Amino acid sequence: MDLWKYFDITHKRHQFCNPLNTKKFERFCQLLQLKRGERVLDIACGKGEFIIRLAELYDIAGVGVDISPYYIQECEEKLRKRTPNSDIEFVQMDAANYTPKSPHCFDVVLCVGASWVYGGHRGTIQALKGMVKKGGLIVVGEPFWLKEPSKEYLEVEGIKKEDFGSHYDNVKVGENEGLTCLYTLVSNFDDWDHYETLQWWAVDEYFRAHPDDPDMREIVERKTREKKLYLQGGRETMGWAVYVFRNGGCFNK
Ligand SMILES: C[S@@+](CC[C@H](N)C(=O)[O-])C[C@H]1O[C@@H](n2cnc3c(N)ncnc32)[C@H](O)[C@@H]1O
Repeated sequence: MDLWKYFDITHKRHQFCNPLNTKKFERFCQLLQLKRGERVLDIACGKGEFIIRLAELYDIAGVGVDISPYYIQECEEKLRKRTPNSDIEFVQMDAANYTPKSPHCFDVVLCVGASWVYGGHRGTIQALKGMVKKGGLIVVGEPFWLKEPSKEYLEVEGIKKEDFGSHYDNVKVGENEGLTCLYTLVSNFDDWDHYETLQWWAVDEYFRAHPDDPDMREIVERKTREKKLYLQGGRETMGWAVYVFRNGGCFNK
């Protein structure tokens, strides 16, 4: 089954494809206080909510990049509906191959929940640093361990313990790269439950509307595995946060 179809179905009712709480998101957008025309790049932009909300609030210009044709189509529909006159472009491609027209040309660069594009958290920060202005903002979303992951958890998820660090590690990695961590948005159990369980609901709805979809069995089997993993320890194992860094900043002159 096409992976992007799977994510489209499981995230049908989501605004964000990660456990970011929409109230915390809105508060963060208000805090940003961007200037009209400032340039924002969102790598792996998902449904484009970040960049479109910033365009609504501040009339920024920007680019959203995502590999999923389903999400890019949704981004473009949202753009037409909510900010048709804004200077926003969505590009469907592997973000690993995206290079801006000139280096250090963006005021804010985001990669929220897709650090695999650059081989992990450090690689993401290094890549984004090459695209943001000195003094600009880098915003990344990254998991962290709440506790030692079990062998079974790692096996079922297909990840290694070394793939992620602690919440402190995620901050330190950025600061060791010459950034200053200004702010974090940490997801709690309620945020995670909303994110995970809304996927169960979305699959059920899809099943009711498309009982003859030949991919149905695979979709249900995969989501059943993920549901079990989340309920049997995943919820207590993995945390998630958005980290806001200044490129430079007072702790890293
Ligand atoms: C966890 S979601 C996060 C989406 C978005 N940043 C958000 O916060 O809602 C990961 C996103 O990465 C996109 N993606 C995965 N691999 C990618 C790649 N190589 N290049 C660009 N986008 C990618 C997926 O389509 C998905 O939208």
